[in-house]
Amino acid sequence: MQNLELKETWMLPYGKQTIDAQDVEAVLAAISSSMLTTGPAVSQFEARLAEATRSTSAVAVSSGTAALHAAFDAIGITAGDEVIVPAITFVATSNAVIYCGGTPVFADVDQDTLLVDPIDVERKITPRTKAIVAMDYAGQPCDYDRLRAIADKHNLILVADSCHSLGASFKSHPIGSVADLTCFSFHPVKAITTCEGGATTTNDSELAARMKRFRSHGIDNTHSQRTQAGTHQYDMLSLGCNYRISDLQCALGVSQLNKLPAFIDARENIAKLYQQQFADIPFANLLTQKSSRTSANHLVVMKWDHQASGVSRDELFQHLRNEQIGVNVHYRPVYQHSWYQNRFGQNLSCPNSDAVYQQIVSLPVFPLMQEIDVYRVVKTIRQFATALTPQAITRRPAPLTAAG
Ligand SMILES: Cc1ncc(COP(=O)(O)O)c(C=O)c1O
Repeated sequence: MQNLELKETWMLPYGKQTIDAQDVEAVLAAISSSMLTTGPAVSQFEARLAEATRSTSAVAVSSGTAALHAAFDAIGITAGDEVIVPAITFVATSNAVIYCGGTPVFADVDQDTLLVDPIDVERKITPRTKAIVAMDYAGQPCDYDRLRAIADKHNLILVADSCHSLGASFKSHPIGSVADLTCFSFHPVKAITTCEGGATTTNDSELAARMKRFRSHGIDNTHSQRTQAGTHQYDMLSLGCNYRISDLQCALGVSQLNKLPAFIDARENIAKLYQQQFADIPFANLLTQKSSRTSANHLVVMKWDHQASGVSRDELFQHLRNEQIGVNVHYRPVYQHSWYQNRFGQNLSCPNSDAVYQQIVSLPVFPLMQEIDVYRVVKTIRQFATALTPQAITRRPAPLTAAG
């Protein structure tokens, strides 16, 4: 029979999970237990997550997208409501607003951090605005002091898309306890993984109860609660989804949470090494890190000066991929995607986001990455940049500027 196994080519990935023997043991124990879903591992994971984020409640769900959807449902986003979201984010942030019938309104980002610009956020507020979403790009927390002041002034809810920033902090407060609701993802490239998975943390017990109901069809109790109570009865109180996360995933989540501080330390060491090494590379700059915040270093993002170098980001990207360096781009401004253009028209624009999207490249960073891997990435970029002597630049074709 033909061997259908895919041959892997070796590429240094931009992100990767860290799974050890304890994780495997935890999953094996969970799969042998009597409850594979809605069981004790789910509550245990939620309790540990609430503890780690110093929040009073955590609601674990099947993905970060589900966490955002549950959060927007809980705060009652519905048709006619506007929610301000950063222009540069993963599409899930604004899609989740649309799932609830709301309208995302895009705010520009700061060019040096790619974090949402509070001035543009305030400019975009209308009488229909109900919430502001902060997205902790690359793991660095947003300016929560200014966003909180704006939210309070206009009586808005502050939601954090912290899918990049579990383990980060703002003024010594762990992310998860700073916004009204904070959403996390546990996809394999994130700070910890449950394979797929997500959670929303909050200090509001009513919102938490509503999200728990939402993740299970809007029904007022779970299968295990009915079993324990010896009843078959349940009532569907609101419209919900099946966004439950399994006990296997949560057992993995608990085991991964034990290692969160070590994962964050490892990421920080890699980010620091990149910072040292980037000091003298022509045309390449890392994002600015603000004081009074610690980053989870989910991404190390480099801005490539395509104008000064005469070479586009995409040419650099292709070169790095050819060198087996698994770079990526996070993210194209959401409104540039075809679905958004068809729905909202083609006139949406946030100048900083449009400009910076042409420059950004995400470099590999994950806890098991070795120093030698960082040196290889940096050396490849340095060689590429220094080869662009003035003569080389004038010989090159005009830079590619099309979005892509
Ligand atoms: C900023 C951001 N928001 C939302 C999500 C969605 O998370 P998930 O993939 O777990 O649904 C992601 C995941 O990549 C993300 O990076």
